[in-house]
Amino acid sequence: MYIAVVGTGYVGLVTGVSLAEVGHRVVCIDIDAAKVKKMSKGISPIYEPSLDELMKKNLTANRLSFTTDHQEAFKESEVIYIAVGTPENEDGSANLGFVERVAIDIAKHVRKDAIVVTKSTVPVGTNDTIKQVIRTNLVRDVKVEIVSNPEFLREGSAIHDSFHGDRIVIGAESERAADIIEEINRPFGIPVYKTDIRSAEMIKYASNAFLATKISFINEISNICERVGANVEDVAIGMGLDHRIGNQFLNAGIGYGGSCFPKDTKALIQIAGNVDYDFELLKGVVNVNKHQQQLLLNKLKERVGSIEGKRIAVLGLAFKPNTDDMREAASIRVTEELVNNGAFVVAYDPVAMEKARQVLVPQVAFANSASEAIKNSDAVLILTEWDEIKELDPELFETMAYPLVIDGRNCFDLELMRKYRLEYHSVGRPAVRNMLITRN
Ligand code: UDX
Repeated sequence: MYIAVVGTGYVGLVTGVSLAEVGHRVVCIDIDAAKVKKMSKGISPIYEPSLDELMKKNLTANRLSFTTDHQEAFKESEVIYIAVGTPENEDGSANLGFVERVAIDIAKHVRKDAIVVTKSTVPVGTNDTIKQVIRTNLVRDVKVEIVSNPEFLREGSAIHDSFHGDRIVIGAESERAADIIEEINRPFGIPVYKTDIRSAEMIKYASNAFLATKISFINEISNICERVGANVEDVAIGMGLDHRIGNQFLNAGIGYGGSCFPKDTKALIQIAGNVDYDFELLKGVVNVNKHQQQLLLNKLKERVGSIEGKRIAVLGLAFKPNTDDMREAASIRVTEELVNNGAFVVAYDPVAMEKARQVLVPQVAFANSASEAIKNSDAVLILTEWDEIKELDPELFETMAYPLVIDGRNCFDLELMRKYRLEYHSVGRPAVRNMLITRN
């Protein structure tokens, strides 16, 4: 199949590369010429395990190419994926400007019957708008059908997820279109669920909102655990043994970040609001998430009193491990608040420092290693559970001015921490106050 993928952000690039890997001829289109040049050499603009490798392999096999030229790309295409961004508007709704622009480009340049597949996460009903825009702007006598095919990839394991996902959802206006998209995806060997377009659009939002709800739920349980002396990790294991609950997405911490959950939860609240429905539960989920970061800072303030003039090490900046993505990362707000309160912040992340420099407040200093950040600090805050951070020797914390560790991701075993001279606070677990020295 000749496939065009418009937009080489996270979703578009991974989709294009994966489709090429299973044998399709894929051309990826982006308006950013510098990025296209880089990708044509097999260099991925994002950090994602295995992505560079697969890009190079499929470029060499002539199954994958990159261009800025829509006209050229759409010439042969039988299937066109829309994978451009839907950023958040001021009011939390999804901005569909990029998607509509692509719909117009398709209408102008498409030369043969085609199926347009929306991968971008779009509010329910958007595919009808896309259909409308394309059909009213078509310049040639060709048939264009629309399919909604939401993605469920996790950053950091997107390639793995492309080949081992739980389901592929196809929402189509005709059986023929659904069958063609099913056929394209057959080599992945993943179960396909076919439905109508609006239900497919809703499945994406409902799935992300549900996962975000699980996280906020366990975070609230963790806050209660701290007060009643229970351990949220044991609670989550005990809950997860019930198959109806499942053991995933029950890790308490400082809340969810990233490009999907924060944006999609707010967009779904908007979508509901637009049809006069007050999605109270989801509003609670969003509020709990916001509050969870503040609780971490409260713990710090409680222990050190004034933050002013204190050297605070922040370990882990990306919104989660195995990515350099800083979108909606807790580190953005946390470091800003620390700096605003007069702290000297020294940050470290195994991969995301380059991106972090662009988004964190400029007063934040960066260390070359975790140990450099930790040394002489008055407190360490852990925001991302990278393996490198989980594997740190706790003895390092004894090189601090005062060994206070506030772990927002439960990276360390409590028994282990009890063996060291330090004060360790995590989320929803008993604090370790193993100090033989006193604060002066
Ligand atoms: C998510 C969805 O998992 C994916 O299906 C969708 O397509 C895009 O959004 P992603 O944002 O890459 O993927 O990351 P994910 O691994 O789901 O984590 C999202 C956030 O939730 C991270 O900040 C993570 O730290 C947090 N999280 C996740 C928790 O705090 N606790 C958990 O138990 C799981």
